[in-house]
Amino acid sequence: MPTAPIVTKPMFLQTGQWILDPVGYMQTQFEQYGDIFQAAVAWTSNGPLVFVNEPKAVQYMLTHDTGKEFTAPGDLNAILEPLIGRQNLILLNGQQHRQRRQLVMPPFHGERLKAYGQIIQQIAQEAIAQWPIDEQRNVRTVMQKITMRVILQVVFGLHQGERYGQLERLLSLRMEMTDTPLASAIIFMPWLQKDFGAWSPGGRIQRLAEETDALLFAEIQDRRANPDPARIDILSLLLAAKDEDGNGLSDQDLRDELMTLLVAGHETTATALTWAMYWIHALPKVKQKLLAELDGLDSGDLSQLLQLPYLNAVCNETLRINPVAMLTFPRQLQVPLELCGYQLEPGMLLMGCIYLIHQREDLYPEPLQFRPERFLERQFSPYEFMPFGGGVRRCVGYALAQYEMKIALATLLTQADMTLMNQRPVQPARRGVTLGQNQPVQIKKIGTRTRAKSLIGVSR
Ligand code: HEM
Repeated sequence: MPTAPIVTKPMFLQTGQWILDPVGYMQTQFEQYGDIFQAAVAWTSNGPLVFVNEPKAVQYMLTHDTGKEFTAPGDLNAILEPLIGRQNLILLNGQQHRQRRQLVMPPFHGERLKAYGQIIQQIAQEAIAQWPIDEQRNVRTVMQKITMRVILQVVFGLHQGERYGQLERLLSLRMEMTDTPLASAIIFMPWLQKDFGAWSPGGRIQRLAEETDALLFAEIQDRRANPDPARIDILSLLLAAKDEDGNGLSDQDLRDELMTLLVAGHETTATALTWAMYWIHALPKVKQKLLAELDGLDSGDLSQLLQLPYLNAVCNETLRINPVAMLTFPRQLQVPLELCGYQLEPGMLLMGCIYLIHQREDLYPEPLQFRPERFLERQFSPYEFMPFGGGVRRCVGYALAQYEMKIALATLLTQADMTLMNQRPVQPARRGVTLGQNQPVQIKKIGTRTRAKSLIGVSR
């Protein structure tokens, strides 16, 4: 049986296209090779990298990733280490990874999550109130403010105060350093990250990291000095955690996990919200239908809002057509395996290609069209629609992200009339390791909405 097709272009060309035009890269290889192909993009030195674009094959991989057939090694995500350090969910392996997930997951789900509904609404209300009528904004900055405050609340239990304001500013500056495809090259070429002085990109990153670390370590010290058992935020949980020998996490471990949650928890959701605002305002029929549904809400019941079918379909279609994460993290094959009619060997690194799965014509006819109705007409399996990955590394923030998208969108749309100012269609483009927009999404607030009802029981 043959091995999976190998992309024949030289590595430097593949890497260049993968960095500068990832959508073009994935689309071209899919047209030539189909469901599965072996790519040579920069960091493949640990073994051949295999893009898997077929839902059943991805399902097999993500339901067998606990060790025997596939492992999900964190060290392969070392590309993220300069930003988030080593001792965190994304880079930990095996048992340590499992334990950390058990610790961090609960605050992102169930009852705890519900408690954040009011806070998210309040944060979104403040954002729209601070936006003057007739002013045009790069909508990402508004969304980033909202998602940053939400994650600060989840992680620290607070989102206001001088230290949090500084953290917000520094993290935004850091993320702006990789906000274009060219600037993102720094992630893939570690020598560019070297500190050649304050004005070099590596130097700026270094200084921003030092300032951010100082704030995080100061917060950790304050919390150690004043423990409060009543607090339920993630930092409190991490501070209380002990291993079987009774040892707690070091300050450095805590810093790495806090950075991971802060970065993973706000950039991704801000990008998704920016896309949602773009599509809603670019397509009048979608906006009309969504507003009709929101205006039909007759009570301030949060659970009713979260179950609105069209709002749910708009959020899903946004995450389908513009998946913020193009790929799952790699899974490493441990045994010989036949997949999609090809023979794969131990050591190979497989990644589910979320972008290409979401673009499959056989699942999503006219895949480049934004059509929320697809999600009302049929059900998709968790491997046909998979913006948050799956298996042992499935996104820990998936429920929070969806919750936030619905509440923030509903709040903004029911409180303000807005219009899209972009002259040209916005296209997906690399933003760091994620897929963002190729130009700012410019939206003008043109009025307040008077028909808007209270969404979550807070009368206005
Ligand atoms: C729209 C928003 C988001 C998208 C599209 C997204 C997507 C993803 C994807 C695809 C993965 C990899 C899954 C895999 O390999 O199977 C992941 C992992 C992860 N995400 Fe998210 N994410 C989002 C929001 C969040 C939020 C709000 C948090 C909150 C803290 C978060 C934290 C994480 C963490 C910590 C991991 C690593 C999990 C592990 O390795 O065990 N993400 N995310």
